Amino acid sequence: MPTGFVGRSPRIVQIRARIEQIAQGKTPVLILGESGTGKEVAARSLYNANPRGQFVPIDCGSLVGPLMESELFGHARHSFTGANEAKKGLMELAHGGVAFFDEIGDLPLELQVKLLRVLQEHEFRAVGSLQRTRVDVRVIAATHRNLEKEVKAGRFREDLFHRLNVTRVTLPPLRERKEDIPLLVERFLATYGRRYILAHEAMDAMMAYDWPGNIRELKNCLDRMVDSGDGPLLPFMELPTSIINFARAGRTAIAATAAAAHDPMNPFPPGLADGASKVVPLSELERRAIGEALLETKGDRTIAAQLLGIGRTTLYRKLKEYQMVVEV
Ligand SMILES: Nc1ncnc2c1ncn2[C@@H]1O[C@H](COP(=O)(O)OP(=O)(O)OP(=O)(O)O)[C@@H](O)[C@H]1O
Ligand SMILES: [Mg+2]
Repeated sequence: MPTGFVGRSPRIVQIRARIEQIAQGKTPVLILGESGTGKEVAARSLYNANPRGQFVPIDCGSLVGPLMESELFGHARHSFTGANEAKKGLMELAHGGVAFFDEIGDLPLELQVKLLRVLQEHEFRAVGSLQRTRVDVRVIAATHRNLEKEVKAGRFREDLFHRLNVTRVTLPPLRERKEDIPLLVERFLATYGRRYILAHEAMDAMMAYDWPGNIRELKNCLDRMVDSGDGPLLPFMELPTSIINFARAGRTAIAATAAAAHDPMNPFPPGLADGASKVVPLSELERRAIGEALLETKGDRTIAAQLLGIGRTTLYRKLKEYQMVVEV
């Protein structure tokens, strides 16, 4: 997992600055965002900006059943059958540090009351214990749910919501910050131990796609392409079908618009605004494509040929034909 909170879009730059600032305080933090937008990455970078104690992740969805309270707050010796030893809970483990309540929307109502008490009084009681334990814990909570709605539906306590909602960070979905895609791709590809290059067409399709699973989906997509490919080049056809279909649907829409433009019944036929032809000679397109491929591969002709979808010999012939001199 790449460390740090990657992104150069204005919203991410702003969020990064905000996280740095919030990290100095003590109030609870609520991180909102669709699935896969980086809520855990944001929580960890908040902790890393001011690391004290431990970062203790608590998966609220797994806190179910008779032992859930003991998981969170620990239990005293002999407090229930089988409790032969006293046990510390996650809250105590996070003492002096951060307790990260992941998917807080899934926290059972009984535990929501108890968490609220910790936030108000900074102390709790372990299961079966009469003693109160003081804790100094910073609570960071995250959810992909709309907590206002959960409150209205009676699934989330309003008092806890208000307590958590003071400092709020909302992560934008990837489709609203597509300029971060190339940077994320670059970071992820750099973690695979060898050099990979994403074909232009594949990158175009990625930029067009809407990424409902956000960064997690982007990462999974690259993982799969790297796994199934057999060379350094990750071509368009290795993309997941969902993305290929999305790109094709987009192209069909563009073609349909173009066709409509040529329809004699179309009252708005296309015209060349400046009267000049927009057609570029094929030889010029070829020359540019070759130049770009060699630039991108830092002169590696084998990979450049793969990127261009031609054989190495053809590339050599064209280099000669266009009298292109390449510094390697
Ligand atoms: N800004 C980022 N920079 C680098 N990697 C990121 C960034 N945001 C997310 N990731 C990566 O995307 C994946 C999903 O991130 P994370 O688990 O933090 O998302 P989440 O919002 O908690 O998702 P979920 O709701 O599915 O739990 C992880 O592999 C994480 O490393
Ligand atoms: Mg998560």
